[in-house]
Amino acid sequence: MSPQPVKAALKKRVAVLISGRGSNMAALAEAARAPGYPAEICLVISNRPNAGGLELAREFGIKALSIDHKNYPSRESFEGDLHEALIDANINLICCAGFMRVLTPYFTRQWPNKILNIHPSLLPKYKGLNTHQRALDAGDTHHGCTVHYVNEDLDGGAVIAQTEIKINAGDTAESLAKRLIPHEHKLYVGSLEKVIKG
Ligand code: GRF
Repeated sequence: MSPQPVKAALKKRVAVLISGRGSNMAALAEAARAPGYPAEICLVISNRPNAGGLELAREFGIKALSIDHKNYPSRESFEGDLHEALIDANINLICCAGFMRVLTPYFTRQWPNKILNIHPSLLPKYKGLNTHQRALDAGDTHHGCTVHYVNEDLDGGAVIAQTEIKINAGDTAESLAKRLIPHEHKLYVGSLEKVIKG
């Protein structure tokens, strides 16, 4: 049985923050097309004007903005404009998806329990960058991805959900990233729904 449609007025208004190709953003946008999904992706913002995900968002009919952090003298001034754009669009929840900018407490404290992120490791392992290579270098047998809340502790907010995959002999950082990404998409779509439905 397909889920009951959610009335537009009851759907959470979600913004996705990106910096690159935006495949997780596209997975969320695709899921949100279903009448039963409890979120509407209303806005996509990139801190990099040339992010491929901006065009992809527009193809979904989503408003896509670039707020280039390089035009701001400080993180807080960049975040001030980011905050304003989110308020202007009546956003309820923010999904970071490949957003390569650390958010300061100035921003995160204004959105408590309202910011989610997808991270390509089994947190608390491998916070930060190069997660696939670090898992390989450590000789791990498993790797994975995590959706978590964003607070002032980088990649340290409460875990919402994780997916684990096996590391195969001969895996490289590239092959792991490629195998993990469809799991990221599924996990993010499910996690956002779980957060909204409580
Ligand atoms: C994903 O692997 C995500 O986990 C990481 O950056 C990548 C972004 O990919 N934080 P995309 O832009 O969603 O395709």
